[in-house]
Amino acid sequence: MEEAKKRVGEYAASYVEDGMVVGLGTGSTAYWFIEEVGRRFQAGELANILTVSTSDRSSEQARRLGLPLKEIDDVNHIDLLVDGADETTRQFAGIKGGGGALLHEKIIAEQSDKIIWIMDESKLVNQLGKFPLPVEVVRFGSWKVYDAFASAGMKPSFRKVDGDKLFITDSGNYIIDLHLEEIPNPQVLAAEIKAKVGVVEHGLFLDYADIILVAQADGEIIKIERSNTTN
Ligand code: 5RP
Repeated sequence: MEEAKKRVGEYAASYVEDGMVVGLGTGSTAYWFIEEVGRRFQAGELANILTVSTSDRSSEQARRLGLPLKEIDDVNHIDLLVDGADETTRQFAGIKGGGGALLHEKIIAEQSDKIIWIMDESKLVNQLGKFPLPVEVVRFGSWKVYDAFASAGMKPSFRKVDGDKLFITDSGNYIIDLHLEEIPNPQVLAAEIKAKVGVVEHGLFLDYADIILVAQADGEIIKIERSNTTN
């Protein structure tokens, strides 16, 4: 699994060209993308890139590698964003936020001209929902939002870290994970969740990615493109 993540992360870095503004995703697969961008930058191949990060964690990595890092408000667009995902269909419906960075990931995605998702083959599914759907909520009144999800049968749980501590996002919010098992209509669910007061954002990313790169166990990387949803 780790080898597949490394392989696809490094491969995705070949899409980066000098002079680009590059969005850095978050997670254990995006980690390898950032490492390879850092290596190419240090080798002088990408001397004129700028980077924008989707999380404090990825920003730290970028700084360690010496990458020129900008705030989202200091760039007027992003040429290419490479990010991971927790689940995706071949129809470009995905779940993100397993690492808790969904809000910043979606803000960066909104500003990106081209988006590549990278993953191992375990993430490619026919229907979303086995992976718990993360929802970022403001802390104030978060138990009320939790109760509303529970009443709607959405099986919520607060994201925890280090035992019983509530996970806090980079924007200072909580995450409620919805254990839905099946999401037959992601568009309807996305609208329903977004309409709840207290919800900041959800992890349904519908029609964001342009290319999905999937590292298979056999060593191959398959490419699913928006214009051609078969291999
Ligand atoms: C973080 C994310 C990640 O991209 C997603 O969780 C995939 O992570 P990994 O590559 O570690 O499996 O959405 O919020």
